[in-house]
Amino acid sequence: MRIAIIGTGYVGLVSGACFSDFGHDVICVDKDAGKIAALEKGVMPIFEPGLDQLVARNVASGRLAFTTELARAVDGAEAIFIAVGTPSRRGDGHADLSYVHSAAQEIAGALTGPAVIVTKSTVPVGTGDEVERIVRETAPGAATWVVSNPEFLREGAAIEDFKHPDRIVVGTEDDAAMEVMREVYRPLYLNKAPLIFTSRRTAELIKYAANAFLATKITFINEIADLCEAVGGDVQDVARGIGLDGRIGAKFLHAGPGYGGSCFPKDTLALLKTAEDNGAPLRIVEAVVKVNDARKRAMGRKVIQALGGDARGKTVALLGLAFKPNTDDMRDAPSLAIVQALEDAGAEVRGYDPESMEQARPLMPGVALCDGPYAAAQGADAVVLVTEWDALRALDLKRLAGIMRQPIMVDLRNIYPPEEAETAGFAWHGIGRPARSR
Ligand SMILES: NC(=O)c1ccc[n+]([C@@H]2O[C@H](COP(=O)([O-])OP(=O)(O)OC[C@H]3O[C@@H](n4cnc5c(N)ncnc54)[C@H](O)[C@@H]3O)[C@@H](O)[C@H]2O)c1
Repeated sequence: MRIAIIGTGYVGLVSGACFSDFGHDVICVDKDAGKIAALEKGVMPIFEPGLDQLVARNVASGRLAFTTELARAVDGAEAIFIAVGTPSRRGDGHADLSYVHSAAQEIAGALTGPAVIVTKSTVPVGTGDEVERIVRETAPGAATWVVSNPEFLREGAAIEDFKHPDRIVVGTEDDAAMEVMREVYRPLYLNKAPLIFTSRRTAELIKYAANAFLATKITFINEIADLCEAVGGDVQDVARGIGLDGRIGAKFLHAGPGYGGSCFPKDTLALLKTAEDNGAPLRIVEAVVKVNDARKRAMGRKVIQALGGDARGKTVALLGLAFKPNTDDMRDAPSLAIVQALEDAGAEVRGYDPESMEQARPLMPGVALCDGPYAAAQGADAVVLVTEWDALRALDLKRLAGIMRQPIMVDLRNIYPPEEAETAGFAWHGIGRPARSR
């Protein structure tokens, strides 16, 4: 089957590479000529484990190609995926659909035969109707079906998630479009990945409901962590104690500095706007958004408190800057709010991340980015573990404490057991866990 992917970012590139690995012929399009030129040279524009080999293998087999010319990709494609960005619209939090709408228009202008147009971008309920309207207006009489197929992959584990999804959601009630979508996902379908067919609007809503639920779960355990700190409980044990209950489940119960990234912050906001516009407010999600926003900056205050209440003239080393491990994505990373709070309080901030420093540099111009965790901690007053990269899980804590001016550790991911950090000489502050010495 011939597939076109419009938008070669985290989702478009991974989807395109995986579809070609399934045996389909795929052309990925992007407006960003630099991205396409890099891909043509075999250079990945993003960091995603295993992606470079997957792309190289499928380019070599002739099943995967890249272009800036949308018409070239759309020509003869039976399924055309829209995987462009849907960031928050400035000012009001609605999803900015301008990229989706212009992609729909460009696709319609380039159609050469019957095609299923599939929205993979995360889009508010009703966007499929608008895409359909644009296509009908631009290409009257063209044989097209507009389908919703939201993507649930996680950055950092994107290939595994794409190839072994918990489910595939397809929003269409049209038999011909269902047939094409079954063909697209046949290898996964054969592997028994549940393929859920539903209405287009329901499919659009499923994606937002999933992200809002996960954001709620994270925020819930974060508030329980605060309560643990107030009453002397241990959130790790609470998470285990509730997570073993099959009705609750253990995932997404890791207390931390608040959710960030390219999806949860913008998707929760966009869902609230949809709910508000339709007179069906989502009070729980409203609270989640407020609590999470406040939490990120509160993490900066937590560091200042660990420094004795005054950060002026102190040096703080942030270890891990990306919003989560195994990605270079800095969008809405908690590190950004923490840096801001620390700089506002007069601290000198240093940073280190295994993959995201290039992306971080323009977003935190005042931060001195260092070559490694020890270089960042040299002479510092506090180290803050912000992202739980594997490379930060086995630091030589004695060595780290030994090179600092003051060995204070603020472990926002509860990577290190308090006794281990304290034995190494640190004054340790975690999330929702008592320090051994206090
Ligand atoms: N990143 C994730 O983990 C993830 C997971 C699930 C769903 N999503 C959703 O998938 C969508 C894409 O997210 P992303 O993180 O891959 O975004 P991204 O910003 O990494 O990539 C989008 C790409 O689309 C390109 N583009 C925009 N308009 C175009 C056009 N008309 N023609 C060709 N290219 C165009 C941009 O240049 C960019 O490279 C969003 O709606 C997002 O919410 C993302």
